[in-house]
Amino acid sequence: MIPVAAGCEASVKRQLVALGYGDRPADAGRISLTGDFSDVARLNVFLRAGERVLVELGSFPAHTFDELFEGVFSLPWEEFLSPHSAILMDGKSYKSRLGAIKAAGGVAKKAIIRRLSEKLGVRTFDEKGERAVVGVSILNDVASVTLDTSGDGLHKRGYRVRTYDAPLRETVAAAIVEGSYFRAGKPFADLFCGSGTLPVEAAMYALNIAPNAAREFDFTKWKCVDKTVLLRARAEAADVRRSGEIAPLFAGDISPRAVEIAKFHAERAGVARHIVFAHADMRAFTSEEKYGVLISNPPYGERIGVDGDLFSLYRDFAGVFRRLPDWSCYFLSAYPEAERAFGRCPKKRRFYNAHIPCTLYAYPGAKPPRGAAEGEGGGAVSAE
Ligand SMILES: C[S@@+](CC[C@H](N)C(=O)[O-])C[C@H]1O[C@@H](n2cnc3c(N)ncnc32)[C@H](O)[C@@H]1O
Repeated sequence: MIPVAAGCEASVKRQLVALGYGDRPADAGRISLTGDFSDVARLNVFLRAGERVLVELGSFPAHTFDELFEGVFSLPWEEFLSPHSAILMDGKSYKSRLGAIKAAGGVAKKAIIRRLSEKLGVRTFDEKGERAVVGVSILNDVASVTLDTSGDGLHKRGYRVRTYDAPLRETVAAAIVEGSYFRAGKPFADLFCGSGTLPVEAAMYALNIAPNAAREFDFTKWKCVDKTVLLRARAEAADVRRSGEIAPLFAGDISPRAVEIAKFHAERAGVARHIVFAHADMRAFTSEEKYGVLISNPPYGERIGVDGDLFSLYRDFAGVFRRLPDWSCYFLSAYPEAERAFGRCPKKRRFYNAHIPCTLYAYPGAKPPRGAAEGEGGGAVSAE
C-alpha cells in the first residue's frame, strides 16, 4: 500500500505504470498492489511522489477489542520482528465501533507481544532494537494491519539537511515537475528556488535518478527479508540513470542565503553541475531559449514574510512570464489573490504543503514542433 498525498495521485499512478505495476486505482489516499520484497525495495527506491510503502499483514472484522486482539494475534509477527524490535503503533478509525484508536493500538501491541512471546519463547522485550511501525486502521469495523517498510517518509531523500523558510515537500515538488511539460532537454527555471527543492527534483527527474537509491529503509532489518533485494533495486537504479548531459536548469532567488543552501543541497543530491544558480530578483529573468518551463513556489505570506506587497510580486512575475512567449509556467501558492494578480488560469490543482492548502496554477505554453517533446505527465523514460 502506498499512501499518497492529495494532488500527487496521478503522478504516482503514472510512475507505477512505468515501473511495470499496471494502472492501479487510488482509493482514499492509498494505492494498493501485490508483490514481494523485491517490489517493496524497488518502490522505496524509485517512487518520487509516494509518501511511504506499507505491507498489509492482514485484514479482519474488528467490532470489539477481543476481535481486534485475536485478529492481530493470528498474524505471523515472528517472521518480521525480534524481541528487540521497537514497536511503534500508528492508527486511525473511521465509521467504526472501536473509535478509541489509542486504546485499540494498545490492544494490538499486547497481541503482538503475546504472539512473539509464545512463538519465540521469550519473556522480555527491551524494544531497544530496530524500529517497527505498525499501522492499525479500522474502517467500517474492518481492521487493516500494516507494517511500514520505509521508516522515514519517502520525502526524506537525504539531500535536504539545511533549513530555510517554507520549503516545499520533496514528494510534492516531484509530482509538480512530473505533471508539467518539463522533460530532459527542455529549459527549466525556478525563479524563487529557496532551499532548491524544485530544481533538485527536476534535475533528478531529467537524469532519471531514483530519488531514494542511497538511503536506508526499515524493512531490510526484518528477519524474513533477503537483504540483497535492496542491492538489486539500487543496481537497477544505477543502470537506468541517464548518463550524458542535459540542458542546464536555472535556479534563482533574491536571498543569497537561499542560493547558498540550494547549491549545497544540489551538491548533496549529486546534481549541482546541471544547475546554474543565481542570486537575483526574479524580475531580471529572461531567456532566448524556446519551449522552456517555469516551475516555482513564490512566497505566499502565510509562512514567509516578504517586503513590499504580494500582489505586485505576482503581477511582476506574470510580466516575466509574458516575456517568454513559448514557455509554460506552473506555480504553487496559497496566496488567495494569486490568480487575480497573475492572470486567469486555465488549469488548477489542489495540493497540501505543510498542511496548508495550496493551488498549483498551470499556464501551459505553446506546443513545440512535432517530435520535439511530449505533453504533460508521462514523458518519463525507462524504470520511471
Ligand atoms: C516559498 S519560498 C520557496 C521555497 C522553495 N520552493 C523550497 O523548497 O525551499 C519563496 C522564495 O522566494 C524568494 N523570493 C522572494 N521574493 C523574490 C524575488 N523578487 N525574486 C526572487 N526570489 C524571491 C524568497 O527568498 C524565498 O526563498
